[in-house]
Amino acid sequence: IRVLSIASEAVPLIKTGGLADVVGALPDALAPHGVETTTFLPGYPSVIGALGGARMIHEWPSLMGGPARLLQGKLGDHPLLVLDAPSLFQRDGGPYVDAGGRDWDDNWRRFAAFGRAAADVASSGVPHLSFDIAHAHDWQAAMAPAYLRFAPAGPPPPSIMTIHNMAFQGHYPASIFPALGLPDDAWSINGVEYHGGVGFLKAGLDAAWAITTVSPTYAREIRQTEFGMGLEGLIRSRADHVRGIVNGIDTTAWNPAADPALASPFTVRTLGKRAPNKTALENEFHLDPGDGPLFVVVSRLTWQKGMDVLLGLIDHLVALGARLALLGSGDKGLEGGFLAAAQRHPRRVGVRIGYDEALSHRMQAGGDAILIPSRFEPCGLTQLYGLAYGCVPVVSRTGGLADTVIDANLAALSAGVATGVQFNAVTHDALAEALERTVTLHRDARTWQQIQRAGMKTDFSWARSGKAYADLYAHLLEAR
Ligand code: ADP
Ligand code: GLC
Repeated sequence: IRVLSIASEAVPLIKTGGLADVVGALPDALAPHGVETTTFLPGYPSVIGALGGARMIHEWPSLMGGPARLLQGKLGDHPLLVLDAPSLFQRDGGPYVDAGGRDWDDNWRRFAAFGRAAADVASSGVPHLSFDIAHAHDWQAAMAPAYLRFAPAGPPPPSIMTIHNMAFQGHYPASIFPALGLPDDAWSINGVEYHGGVGFLKAGLDAAWAITTVSPTYAREIRQTEFGMGLEGLIRSRADHVRGIVNGIDTTAWNPAADPALASPFTVRTLGKRAPNKTALENEFHLDPGDGPLFVVVSRLTWQKGMDVLLGLIDHLVALGARLALLGSGDKGLEGGFLAAAQRHPRRVGVRIGYDEALSHRMQAGGDAILIPSRFEPCGLTQLYGLAYGCVPVVSRTGGLADTVIDANLAALSAGVATGVQFNAVTHDALAEALERTVTLHRDARTWQQIQRAGMKTDFSWARSGKAYADLYAHLLEAR
């Protein structure tokens, strides 16, 4: 089965979040199941720069107003296609925002062009390329299924829309519709129209043959107003075509036994070798050693991640005898708040504002517990990295966090299956109680190690989910 995986990010070429980890891991995850995955990315400077001697295989004289070329390269051992449209993607700044953090004004054009090109590639509009399945990820790729449905270049393959985060939808005024190059009948509530404007994710969800999201719990949650963010009705109406497939992790990049970022590699059988990583991390963050747990945070600093609630609990965390090392960036208010908390609690709270991949590995290897108090979390990867690295996840009970962590309640502890701490609502009191519970558990070294070991033995590989995607592809091809 030949799949075109259409996405705006993929490691190691471009990453702003978990989407990149997942899209980058899928080709390897699917290969054992007879699926050849070709990844399709926009030609941002970092992507074009990494291509080296790429081959140009197609040209669009005018793709939504500008010239564009299709380049062929490699993503690891797997095929890669890149949309080189300099007027849309060759610019300094992030994939979605300028250097000042503002959304690019023409994001609708950038990602409509990306979807249009992907649809051409997937529906035999480019000589010598053909695909059995088009698999689009998130709103940036969501126009691909819509173009495949309303204006394909040739016979369209079955399409899949995967939701990594319902909070980002790509919502634009109706005035852009004529520039999209879609037939008039696409302007309908069964097409791209959404509350009087154009909804990219909405259009993709409506057009795709199947919808997936990245955990079973989130697949259920997005039927409710609180999580569906306006699209809950559409999700409910297509409920038979929606399923949750939990993310795995790249166990080569995230292997504590052979991680070049670590001072002291370790395994589940040599947990004692984890200690030097903790000392190194304390030094790196200028923290005093102590008996209480060393909490870590590796996160976007946003409302989704519940970081405002955590910020309100820093004094409490310190009073409990715990310490905190935080790595993150995002809302300026939260960044300032955490920096101020570090000043208030020297040698107890350390904060690093920024993005640092290697440091994120050292934090998972050196921290006792990783805090993830998300208000919603489609899947979440940092709790999985925590499990793999013996850094016990302390998480809210939502989305993928609910599906991948087993709470250390009495029953789970006595059965030896507990892997972390879960709490219900993301409120000050509930998080405070979770912190207290974690500090108590940590005091009992034997219990704590049992939790660490159970986590490290969890199967967070792609084996099962790779097969679930492959089965879905096969099913769509049969149903065609
Ligand atoms: P989301 O995609 O919603 O941000 P995930 O948990 O799925 O959440 O994925 C986040 C990814 O980004 C993980 O790989 C995590 O390690 C990484 N990450 C987040 N913030 C940072 C940071 N400041 N430095 C390094 N890595 C980070
Ligand atoms: C999104 C979600 C996150 C998920 C990631 C990869 O960024 O916020 O929960 O793990 O996508 O699927």
